[in-house]
Amino acid sequence: MQRILARDVTRFLLPLLALLALVAWSASEVVNRQARVWAERDLAARAQLAASGARESLVARIAASDRAGTLALLNELVRDERLLAAAVCGGGGRTLAATAALPAEFRCGHPAGPIAGAEWEASRQLAGGTVHVSVIPIEDQGVTRGELVLVHDMSYLDRRAAVTRRATFVAFALVGLLAAAATVLVARFSWRSWTAELRRVLALPFQLAATASPHSFQPFLADVRDLVARLAAAEAAASGARWSADRIRTVLERDLRGEGVIVVANREPYVHERTPEGGIQVEVPASGLVTALEPIMRACSGTWIAHGDGSADRDTVDPHDRVRVPPDEETYTLRRLWLSPEEVQGHYAGFSNEGLWPLCHLAHTRPEFRADDLAQYARVNRRFADAVVEEASSPDPVVLVQDYHFALLPRLLRERLPRATVLTFWHIPWPNAERFAICPWGPRLLEGLLGSSILGFHTQGHCNNFLESVDRFLEARIDRERQAVVAGGHETLVRPYPISVEWPNRWAARTASVPECREEVRRELGLPPDAILGIGVDRLDYTKGIPERLLAVERFLLRHPGYQGRFWFLQLAAPSRSKIDAYRRVGEEVERIAARINERFGGAYRPIVLHRAHADPPQVFRLYRAADLCYVSSLHDGMNLVAKEFVAARDDLRGVLVLSQFTGAARELTEALIVNPYDLEAASGALAAAVAMAPAEQEDRMRALRAMVAEWNVFRWAGRMLVDATRLRRQDRLASRLVGLAAGPPAT
Ligand code: F6P
Repeated sequence: MQRILARDVTRFLLPLLALLALVAWSASEVVNRQARVWAERDLAARAQLAASGARESLVARIAASDRAGTLALLNELVRDERLLAAAVCGGGGRTLAATAALPAEFRCGHPAGPIAGAEWEASRQLAGGTVHVSVIPIEDQGVTRGELVLVHDMSYLDRRAAVTRRATFVAFALVGLLAAAATVLVARFSWRSWTAELRRVLALPFQLAATASPHSFQPFLADVRDLVARLAAAEAAASGARWSADRIRTVLERDLRGEGVIVVANREPYVHERTPEGGIQVEVPASGLVTALEPIMRACSGTWIAHGDGSADRDTVDPHDRVRVPPDEETYTLRRLWLSPEEVQGHYAGFSNEGLWPLCHLAHTRPEFRADDLAQYARVNRRFADAVVEEASSPDPVVLVQDYHFALLPRLLRERLPRATVLTFWHIPWPNAERFAICPWGPRLLEGLLGSSILGFHTQGHCNNFLESVDRFLEARIDRERQAVVAGGHETLVRPYPISVEWPNRWAARTASVPECREEVRRELGLPPDAILGIGVDRLDYTKGIPERLLAVERFLLRHPGYQGRFWFLQLAAPSRSKIDAYRRVGEEVERIAARINERFGGAYRPIVLHRAHADPPQVFRLYRAADLCYVSSLHDGMNLVAKEFVAARDDLRGVLVLSQFTGAARELTEALIVNPYDLEAASGALAAAVAMAPAEQEDRMRALRAMVAEWNVFRWAGRMLVDATRLRRQDRLASRLVGLAAGPPAT
């Protein structure tokens, strides 16, 4: 831009300087010409004066033909410094006397010289310079006795003209330079302040920019913003720029009027718990949903609506049940909803976790569907719909509905806020149609979900299963090319959006170095400094395959006895849904298996370290960095973010990921050691391969895994949904305009 400015200034300045030179030349010409006219008049007057002073003497001398006397008189006259030469013609072209310097062409009788009896004057350019000649008749009693020729030197005028010209040029050149400098300075200053102001205005949310920008920007502000946004988008797409928090913000500000989004999730991102001492502590729940959504909310701001179930949650909200979070940064609002024990039982424990959860996961737990639970489920969905309507600041908010706790909510929102953009994401697998048929209220759930504008799953396989279920149980049109379902006149896009983690990862950046973590964790666990450490990090859930994992560790130690006394496996198991029998049972089973394995190897060597406790992200990331391997052995998992977090934590490019083939993550993280967790021989073999893997191979695999997670980070997950939502909103707007046009002008 500066180069363009310099070019424009040059283009402007060169003609200006040329013009100034022309003006300077013309001005000096006018001045010199006038000076010459005045000088000629002056010399003519002087000549007359000299002639009248000498007239009497000359008449006498001409009458006496006194040459010598006349010459003496003339010599006396030319003592005047300006008078160059003089002559007296005595009639008939005869020269009576002439001073020595008289130019030949002014001699008496010369064809171009004085004419007898005629008075004239002229300026002439001679070899020695310009002269002025005056020929004045000398009269006596009305009779012309001769002519006096006076030649004045005018060459001083040439010298003066040169000086005048030079001075005029210098003066104009100075003026020109000053003008140029002033122009450049003013242009630069104006450009800077103009662009700074433009940048400031472009950085503002659209609505603010429209009011806070200077008047001069108003007419084209929208065009400029649009252009900049399109260029930025095109540039980002062309350069393959990575999705980031900033890019999410740009999409929101550019395409969604800078509105914050509304997230609806059963789980809250921050739980306030009362401590035994009576204080309050903040906990981040063990939840993949929170891991993924929280950075998005930091980027987007807006409101997260969730069930408030912390023991101190009610003590920390304002009168509208809102609290600003994260606690130390406060970038978005958490709106808490209070649910009764019956609602929690029916909605969360019953329908969601005893019904839908085992329905969607192939983990051999029988789904339980009870009509009472469904009633509470529907009631809680309605209550969340009310909360969305309360929190929405416009008739067309962007609402992100999260997970299987809210299958009915999208339709309720469509009814209450028809213009809302509802992005629903199903965080768990979707079963095939045969299995889905187990749910007695399947069609109702499908109809509920099809109130969404977009319905997202982790994988294409889950999308296909959903479309198959719609095909089997609903009257709806499935557009497979567009990946859309049209039901009841409303279209829902059904697309895969693989969820991920924040990148660059905040927790990884805040965690101590790998050597420090290794040293500390081994010391805290009472292990030798060179202990080989494997880890597992999960909610204590039967879908996570924790028993199978521990059995694989046992098998590994039996097949490779050289690692006994050198290898330990730390299982971090966060208590989860512990009021549900299946969860209690898996907790007991895990305890039992861990105890049996530890006893089996006997003595002081207890290879399984089981921690049944909640751990916040800083603690978890310390473990990731301390470990030699991480084993994710889910029997069925929509995605599994532990696998991606482990990769995000290992900026040292070490550590091996052993990953179940039944996770969504296994489709992306192909450089992990992919195993079937049911196959204990294969799984224990993968553990053996992991502990023996050469550092160079670890680095190669980890580098590839990190590139994958960096690229497909959680901002990309949310960004792609928001971009698709933007397209839908634009299409809707155009469609309603077309409807308006087709209807014609309103009747008057
Ligand atoms: O995996 C499904 C899921 O809802 C996640 O999105 C979340 O991480 C986890 O379950 C948490 O479960 P809960 O909220 O019941 O503790």
